[in-house]
Amino acid sequence: MLISMLAFYANAREIHPLERWEFLFAGPHHTAITPPADGKWEAVRVPHDWAIDKPFDMRIDMQSVRVIEDGDEVPQMRTGRTGALPAYGVGYYRTEIESTPAMKGQRIRIEFDGAMSLAQVYLNDKLVGKWAYGYTSFAFDLTENWNYNGKNKLMVRLNNKEESSRWYPGAGLYRNVRLIVSNPVHVAYQGTNIKTPQVSNQRGKMQVETLIHNFSDAVQKIRVVYEVKDAEGTIVAHSQRSCTVKGKEQLLNQTLTVKRPQLWSIDSPRLYTLTTRLFLGEKAVDSSEEQFGFRTIRFDKDKGFFLNEQPVKMQGVCLHHDLGPLGAAVSIPALKRQLDMMKEMGCNAIRTSHNPASPELIQLCDQLGFVVIEEAFDEWRIGKNANGYHVYFDEWSERDIQAMIRRDRNHPCIVAWSIGNEIREQGKKEGAAVARRLTDICHREDPTRPVTAGFNNHKNAIKNGLATNVDLVGFNYKPYDYKAKHLENPDFILYGSETASTVSSRGEYKFPVKEYRSVYYEDYQVSSYDLEYPAWASTPDTEFEQQDDCPFIFGEFVWTGFDYLGEPTPYNSGTPAKSSYFGIVDLAGLKKDRFYLYQSKWSDKKVVHLLPHWNWEERLGQNVPVFCYTNYPKAELFVNGKSMGIRTKSQANKYERYRLMWKDVTYQPGEIKVVAYNEQNLPADTVSIKTAGSTYRIRLTTDRQTLKADGKDLAFVTVEVLDKDGNLCPKADNLIFFDVEGAGRLKAVCNGNPIDQTPFSSTYMRTFNGKLVVILESGTQSGDLILKTYGGHLLPGTMHIQVKD
Ligand code: GAL
Repeated sequence: MLISMLAFYANAREIHPLERWEFLFAGPHHTAITPPADGKWEAVRVPHDWAIDKPFDMRIDMQSVRVIEDGDEVPQMRTGRTGALPAYGVGYYRTEIESTPAMKGQRIRIEFDGAMSLAQVYLNDKLVGKWAYGYTSFAFDLTENWNYNGKNKLMVRLNNKEESSRWYPGAGLYRNVRLIVSNPVHVAYQGTNIKTPQVSNQRGKMQVETLIHNFSDAVQKIRVVYEVKDAEGTIVAHSQRSCTVKGKEQLLNQTLTVKRPQLWSIDSPRLYTLTTRLFLGEKAVDSSEEQFGFRTIRFDKDKGFFLNEQPVKMQGVCLHHDLGPLGAAVSIPALKRQLDMMKEMGCNAIRTSHNPASPELIQLCDQLGFVVIEEAFDEWRIGKNANGYHVYFDEWSERDIQAMIRRDRNHPCIVAWSIGNEIREQGKKEGAAVARRLTDICHREDPTRPVTAGFNNHKNAIKNGLATNVDLVGFNYKPYDYKAKHLENPDFILYGSETASTVSSRGEYKFPVKEYRSVYYEDYQVSSYDLEYPAWASTPDTEFEQQDDCPFIFGEFVWTGFDYLGEPTPYNSGTPAKSSYFGIVDLAGLKKDRFYLYQSKWSDKKVVHLLPHWNWEERLGQNVPVFCYTNYPKAELFVNGKSMGIRTKSQANKYERYRLMWKDVTYQPGEIKVVAYNEQNLPADTVSIKTAGSTYRIRLTTDRQTLKADGKDLAFVTVEVLDKDGNLCPKADNLIFFDVEGAGRLKAVCNGNPIDQTPFSSTYMRTFNGKLVVILESGTQSGDLILKTYGGHLLPGTMHIQVKD
């Protein structure tokens, strides 16, 4: 019986990804609704970010703005705030779809996972819908204007206004778009809601709500078949029911039980799939699939967070949505690479700052095992930018929250919804009422998860009642106040919604080495001794200490996991800087030293990492402190074989608690070596760094040897400049050229230097402190994909990657 149902199902609902479009950029001053008649359209593949491969220009989206959050007393001219790329203005996408005989009598819907921004969608020259916010998903029904006898012209007009963002927003159809062709009787868009009210190792109870649409103009007797499969594809529960759909829509409730469910957790992210099939008589007319999981969550004001009744401290990072040199265009391999690195660091939680994420990110968090706080807004009614979301808030906020929650409520990874980041209503009387309204919407849409917000102005947010109107109270940059606020407000469930904001440039070290609040250097870089931060922020250690000493705090979300485009604090005014310094990993996806500090704190893996590099010709005979990031309790440092003494972690101060430091080391070229000792006082690991000689050759390493021939798989190839003996030349800034041949193409290049202005689409780039990353994209044919790199006197490097069907 099941097999015959599946055969019918094959024809039930068609999902057509809409990837092939033509694009036209009409520029920043285009006001007409229609595209310019003389414009040149180019063929593009969606997801597409129209600005990311273009040249940087520091004048783009220059903003005279008072950033209250940064402590500005008066407006300042901010440069690079949104990435200095031409994301601003009006862009058009168009495509043609030929109706097929199979579409006759069917409903046609277009789904956008996100479009940046102010989307207006036209079908056959008629406006079918508008959607303002660039980050939420939406769908329009096209049936009424669909030409079932021939061609259908789709056009999307997008408009990114200047001064609408605090970071790089991306531009265009930067997320996936698809056409759904379904029977007039079907499961509605975002129409499945799976709750798991009882979860134990013995039993997983599911409450499934299904919204059925009936556009057939007739009363329909339908049969609904539910089927649950585990990750291996085994059917573990099924049931069916019949019902009569009288009006245009009907909500069905069904209970299913899975015996001995495998629970979803961070270490074992087990997923299940619910398939809902609709039958009219014996004919399968629609089918829809949703992934979900069995897990319980609980937040306790004194003990923190519990997943499946096990305590979990959230070791989280905030992530903006851009993927560095790939921009905002969604890419599963690029997102997966980011999450894999975060996992390797011991990170277990993501905050999607400050907007709803792509469905792909949420799905990957489900699959890889991260808990997620998904955030709706960075502004409510009071703006941070002249043309920011506040302009749309009254009209759109309810719909946008609904769109976020209805799309993502079935994902086990999501543990809370955030209604806002540092919203300016914290200091205002009406703040509490707005929070109440938004929290109520979230609770109505999803009674199973708590609601949160991140407060930088925490005292006022508490005073005006805003903090009481969310379930979880997030503090941005207030580690020194956790204890006091917990005592004063014992019912608050507290966490660090945004922490640290330490700044560093990969491979740069500044002297003298000490803790600096708001430091600037002439070369627009900051130090990787991980002791520098802007006025409101702190070092990682400052937060670690409070996280360790406050068991009631359920975790932290570091600002940020990766560098991102825009917000180049501290060089955000009249400098060449176009990307951030906050990342634990740089814009190219190369680890900074800080990665290992977090890894030593968060991961179970043994870590021994030494810094800085050992090429200090200009500091011969001078002081160069050496730090070791490790989770061993002690270590001994040797310089050219001579012991510099043993350092042991101690409670003396926060730095000695989390780092081993030799502050009085005199530089001599040669070798530094550290021997780490375990709890039994036995030597357990050794790491050394040698002074590198002259630049000699290029080394290439790839994260992937084989790519899928799907036209969008990616390999990230790290390019390093080495000396004759294979040591990294840590200051090398060689100009490297790239040739790509065979079964793919050069997608982007990036060296992680926030002030480098070479376009990401360039065929050459300088290494930044010895390294850069080349991103290769597979074609659609299998074969050998070859990257050749060369630069001046350096021995060239060649990398072969297999592209396979
Ligand atoms: C916070 C803000 C973030 C980012 C960060 C930089 O105030 O929420 O979006 O601006 O500061 O430290």
